[in-house]
Amino acid sequence: HVRSKLCSSVFRCGLFKNKVAIVSGGGTGIGKAIATELLYLGCKVVIASRNAKKLEAGAEEIRTWLRANNHDSELHIIPCNIRKEEEVQNLISTTVKNHGQLDFLVNNGGGQFLSPAKDIQLKGWNAVIETNLTGTFLMCREAYNQWMKDHGGAIVNIIADMWKGFPMLSHTGAARAGVDNLTKSLSLEWVHSGVRVNSVAPGVVYSETAAANYKDKNVFELAKPLLPYHRLGTVEEISSAVCFLLSPGARFITGETVRIDGGASNYSCHTLQIPGGGTATGEAVTAVPRVFAWARGVIPGGG
Ligand code: ADE
Repeated sequence: HVRSKLCSSVFRCGLFKNKVAIVSGGGTGIGKAIATELLYLGCKVVIASRNAKKLEAGAEEIRTWLRANNHDSELHIIPCNIRKEEEVQNLISTTVKNHGQLDFLVNNGGGQFLSPAKDIQLKGWNAVIETNLTGTFLMCREAYNQWMKDHGGAIVNIIADMWKGFPMLSHTGAARAGVDNLTKSLSLEWVHSGVRVNSVAPGVVYSETAAANYKDKNVFELAKPLLPYHRLGTVEEISSAVCFLLSPGARFITGETVRIDGGASNYSCHTLQIPGGGTATGEAVTAVPRVFAWARGVIPGGG
């Protein structure tokens, strides 16, 4: 097959033939890349998202690409707000009814907004927790109860680089850390059903959707020199790891979280600026430590 801009894959064609996947948040960004690579590998894919318009637009883009590259994999869309129990139940039951099976679930749908914790209202906090943590739980539970408990399957949850806390994104940091732990619990509870549950933790990844969400383009530009590779991750670098975790090549991997961040989480800084300069004793600060400038010089980066 011709490799083109929207998708290329290191995996063999037909790897996921006769498989059915649901990808939440599959119309944009990382989710769209995952859906596209699964389709490229022969999988039937249902993309689900709250925003039907974005879902339609994403699906159209993927379908155009599939046609241009002579792929006949089936792509379907089902609008679903993952915060709503009945909508999640409907997404899973409709998929099983229409396609007769559900082999893979990729929980990529999520959302957050930049804010210091002190300014987050309860409504905003709850929305982020309900989408990223509770929504993922509901999707896993329904996929398991309605299909995977009797037939096996593989689940991949997309989380975040929140290992050292997530300043300015505390709500989603707490939710994603929750999903990391949920991944481990479910992986053990469901081992006997042949269901593997893993997570992928992207570092700073550029997508048009993420850029639009954060408005401030500086978030990405400022991050670059602080990352070991001096560049952002790409959506394709996330999707290939997801495909690996769903594949038989990962058949002995469960309860694992794979960090795809070019080494960033082992490095010594956050990429988002915090109000700095306080002291543990409360004394006035005379010299503000240049944490970011210091971190930049530690390793020869940009390989
Ligand atoms: N993507 C962002 N928020 C979502 C939600 N509540 N449901 C599904 N996909 C989403």
